[in-house]
Amino acid sequence: MADLKMTIDKTNRISKINKEIYGHFAEHLGRCIYGGIYVGKDSPIPNVNGIRTDVVEALKAIKLPVLRWPGGCFADTYHWRDGIGPKENRKKIVNIHWGGVTEDNSFGTHEFLDFCEAVGCEAYVALNVGSGTVQEAAEWMEYMTSANESPMTELRKKNGREKPWKVKYVGIGNENWGCGGEMNADFYSSLYKQYHCFARGAEQQIACGPNSNDVGWTEAMMSKVGAHQMQGLSLHHYTVPTNQWEHKGDSVSFSEDEYYNTLQHTWFMERILKDQEAVMQRYDNDHRIGLVVDEWGLWADVIEGTNPGFLYQQNTMRDAVLAAINLNLFNQHSSRVKMANIAQMVNVLQAIILTEGEKMVKTPTYHVFDMFKEHMEAELVYSSCENKEIEAKDGKFPAVSQSVSVDADGKMHITISNASLDEDFGIDCAIPRSEYKTVSAKILTEKYNALNDFDAPDRVVPKNFDGIKLSGEKLSFTLPRCSVLAIELC
Ligand code: AHR
Repeated sequence: MADLKMTIDKTNRISKINKEIYGHFAEHLGRCIYGGIYVGKDSPIPNVNGIRTDVVEALKAIKLPVLRWPGGCFADTYHWRDGIGPKENRKKIVNIHWGGVTEDNSFGTHEFLDFCEAVGCEAYVALNVGSGTVQEAAEWMEYMTSANESPMTELRKKNGREKPWKVKYVGIGNENWGCGGEMNADFYSSLYKQYHCFARGAEQQIACGPNSNDVGWTEAMMSKVGAHQMQGLSLHHYTVPTNQWEHKGDSVSFSEDEYYNTLQHTWFMERILKDQEAVMQRYDNDHRIGLVVDEWGLWADVIEGTNPGFLYQQNTMRDAVLAAINLNLFNQHSSRVKMANIAQMVNVLQAIILTEGEKMVKTPTYHVFDMFKEHMEAELVYSSCENKEIEAKDGKFPAVSQSVSVDADGKMHITISNASLDEDFGIDCAIPRSEYKTVSAKILTEKYNALNDFDAPDRVVPKNFDGIKLSGEKLSFTLPRCSVLAIELC
C-alpha cells in the first residue's frame, strides 16, 4: 500500500463554491420528463398535480439547487405557448431530435416552475433562439416573471397563477453552434445581444458557450459580449468511454481497461477548465462572467432494446468515481465555474434517478451528490495531495482526486476519490492550526461495475466509515480502491 501525503491550509480561502455547481438538467427527452418526473394527475403512481412524489423527495434530500429545462436540443424547437392552458387543448408536436416521438406538451411552463418550487430549487430556463423569435422569448419571460399588468401576465393569471415565479437563470439558446441552429460565433453573438435586450426578468443571462474545449468560440464571445450583457457562458462536454461517438461503449458491461480509459477521458475536463479560464481571464479579470458547465457526464450506448433516441443507460461505480472527479474539479475551479448541470436528472444519460413504472432507484451518482452536498455555498480552501499515476491505454491520469471546503459554521468537508482498482492508499493529511475535535465519514465503495437496479436498489450505497484517525493537526486513513469518501471535521 502506497502512502500519500496530503496538506490542507484552512486559512487559505480560495473561492466560494456556488451551490449551483451541484445543478441538474432535465430535457424533454426519452423518459426524463414523462414517466421520470411527470406521470399525470390520474396516475396510480403517488403524485401531486402529476409530479412524482418519490422523485421530489429524493431531490429534496440532496438539496438540489438548480434545474435547467426544457433542453438541450429540444429547447431550440420549443414554443412555450404550446405548453400552457388546459391540457386537452395543448398542441401535440413531434420531438424531432429525440426519437421523433409525439410531445403532448402536458408538462409545460406551469408544471416546470411549480416542480422547482416543490423541490425548492432555482429555475434555469433555456430560450428558443434556433427556431423562435426575440418577441416570443420576451413574452415568455414576461409571462413567467412579471408582476405588472400586461397581456402576458393576464394570460398567466387566467391559467391559474397569480404571482410571478422566480426564474433566476435564463439561457439564450442551446448549442447554437450545433443543434441550436448551426450558427457561427459572429452570427450568434449578434443574435445573443438582441435576446439580451428584450428577454428580461431573470437575474442572470447565460450565453451559449463552446463545444467542449473550443477556445475560438469562447474568444469570440468574450471579445464581442461584455460582462454587462452576459453573466455566464455555458460549456458542454461529455465523457465518452471509447471516445468514439459511433460506438460509445456499454454502461454496464465493460472491462477494467475500459473503466480506466473512461476515467482517463474524464480528466480532460481539467484541461478544458484551465484553457477556457485562461481565455475568459483575459477579458474578465474580475470574474464577473461565470463558466457554466451546463451539460456534463458519462454518455454511453443505450441499453439494448431501448429506443436509441431516448439515451437510457445504467449507472455503476464507474459513474460514481467519474462524478467525484468532475465535482472535485468544479470545486477546485469555483473561482470561475459558477454552475454545472449533470446530464440528465432522471432516466437519461448519467442519471441520478432511474424509474420503471412506480419503482424508483437512486444511482451511485445520486449518492455522490448526496455525499458532496455539504460543499454547497462553502469556501474552497487550499489542499494538495501526492498522487499516483494510473496508466490507461489512452494515457495516464491521477488516481486520487480531492477538494476541501469550510462552511459557515467552520466545519470542514473533504471529498476524495480513489480510481485505482488494485491499490488502497494510506493518506497522511496535515491540517496546520486545526482545532477540530471530531471526525465522521461516509464511503461509497463496491466493485467497479456494481450498480443499483429495480430488484436490488441498495447494492451501492454510502456506509459509515470509521477508519479515520484525528490527532491534533493530523488526519490519517486508508482510502480503499474504487471508492469515494466524504469526511466531516467539526
Ligand atoms: O443531453 C443530450 C443532448 O446533448 C442535449 O440535448 C444537447 O444539448 C447535447 O448535445
